[in-house]
Amino acid sequence: MLPPTVTTIAEVRRAGAAARALGKSVGLVPTMGALHEGHAALVRAARRRSGFVVVSIFVNPTQFGPKEDFAKYPRTLEADQKVCGDAGADLIFAPAVEAMYPENSFTFVDVSTLGDHLCGATRPGHFRGVCTVVLKLFNIVRPDAAHFGSKDYQQARIIVQMVRDLNVPVEVCVEPTVREPDGLALSSRNRYLSAEDRALAPRIQAALRTTRARAVAGEVDAARLESALHAELSAIPGARVDYARVVDAETLQPLTRLGRPAVAAVAVFLGTTRLIDNLPIAECGVRNAE
Ligand code: PAJ
Repeated sequence: MLPPTVTTIAEVRRAGAAARALGKSVGLVPTMGALHEGHAALVRAARRRSGFVVVSIFVNPTQFGPKEDFAKYPRTLEADQKVCGDAGADLIFAPAVEAMYPENSFTFVDVSTLGDHLCGATRPGHFRGVCTVVLKLFNIVRPDAAHFGSKDYQQARIIVQMVRDLNVPVEVCVEPTVREPDGLALSSRNRYLSAEDRALAPRIQAALRTTRARAVAGEVDAARLESALHAELSAIPGARVDYARVVDAETLQPLTRLGRPAVAAVAVFLGTTRLIDNLPIAECGVRNAE
């Protein structure tokens, strides 16, 4: 059955209040639509955790740069409603831009340090837009728990930090990355890949795995791990590496030596499509340091 779709803040607040009045906890899965199995896994996780599950579908203009794909970001509401229904959502909140950002909106959530590197370096203002819309959604829906994917590692880390720093009463649950059988992380942007680039795309995850294997084999020099990772990604025909980094898993700052939990994180253009992925290489460095 398709869950009802509401577009106004008043409606979603009313539905949430009604669920709470019945003693149900509220779970939220924020998305930009074009839903795939990765999003569905978040909805199922929310279904397991909460009595009333809200999925928000909102292509958030404030997190797109002027030269990015806001206008052509896929909008597939009908198909999304089916994915939400199949995964067990109770309500879809799909507001218009004017509802979320009325004229005379002046307040934004700023992120320091955690947003400086990786995607933050090449997408200035991106995480400011993400944090602002996520905090707004938290205040609108008032969820007990909200679910995010670790495919967007930096985003999840920043939201966990925002909730801690601003004392937001929401439990943030970070769920594993869902992948295609060949290793490619599911993404709404995969549909833009040409057949040739789609065939090459699993090499991104393969390069991350090689990096982890190098760390397991004893390499603790982060710069050497990064340059080997960069070289392996650059060897993918037609690929342009945006970044290939091994960073502290907690602070997202560059590392010199492994020894603390770390994560290898990459962004790679295949054609005009920018794909991101990451792999924790945590335990290796910690074990090596012992
Ligand atoms: P979107 O890209 O639609 O992703 C919504 C959620 O799905 C995010 O938490 C993302 O990490 C998760 N997700 C995407 N691909 C996944 C995969 N392959 N496996 C597991 N989870 C996956 O991220 C955003 O939207 C926006 O920035 C948002 C948080 C909604 C704010 O606008």
